[in-house]
Amino acid sequence: MKTLPHLIENNREWAKHMTDDDPSFFSRLAHQQSPECLWIGCSDSRVPANQIVGLDPGEVFVHRNIANVVVHSDFNCLSVLEFAVHVLEVKHVIVCGHYGCGGVKAAGADSHLGLIDNWLRHIRDVRQKHSEALNAIDDQTARDRRLCELNVIEQVRNVCHTTIVQQAWSRGRSLSVHGWIYDVADGLLKDLEVTTESSQEMEEAYRIVTALDG
Ligand code: CO
Repeated sequence: MKTLPHLIENNREWAKHMTDDDPSFFSRLAHQQSPECLWIGCSDSRVPANQIVGLDPGEVFVHRNIANVVVHSDFNCLSVLEFAVHVLEVKHVIVCGHYGCGGVKAAGADSHLGLIDNWLRHIRDVRQKHSEALNAIDDQTARDRRLCELNVIEQVRNVCHTTIVQQAWSRGRSLSVHGWIYDVADGLLKDLEVTTESSQEMEEAYRIVTALDG
């Protein structure tokens, strides 16, 4: 099929609905965006950033990849982070993972899938780093869920360690980095309570949260 008429049709209805509610909605957005949050989440189709936090277009800047990974050599992710922090001047960066993440599950399974194994290696590193705590969990589902959480916590730490966030903090900018997890089974978000607003706070939050595993 060369066209997707139902999607274009949905779009017309959606745009009409938005302007019926607020006639200047699009003309206002056309001039500028000023989102307060950057969302770093998984590409999974069940975790659409704006919808699950009830935000309209213009309210959240978004970067998504498989298993919400933040890698220090990923210029795509770093460019998004830099633009969000230094140009849009967002006040919050949210790393949001989700239970039932296929990427995390694949990383836990040790199967070989091809190119993506190189990407999943980052999550396998997380698994390896916390292997003692994870191996102590007998139930496979509970272990997978914990790895999803630990992956978020490690990615929050990676965000905090970037030159971008470090620079913002050293200039006295107010910037919080949050770690959340979403449950695709009930649509609810959980705050993993690793929110940090400075380098010192990050190490403290990380120690407390990961010590619970020990
Ligand atoms: Co996922």
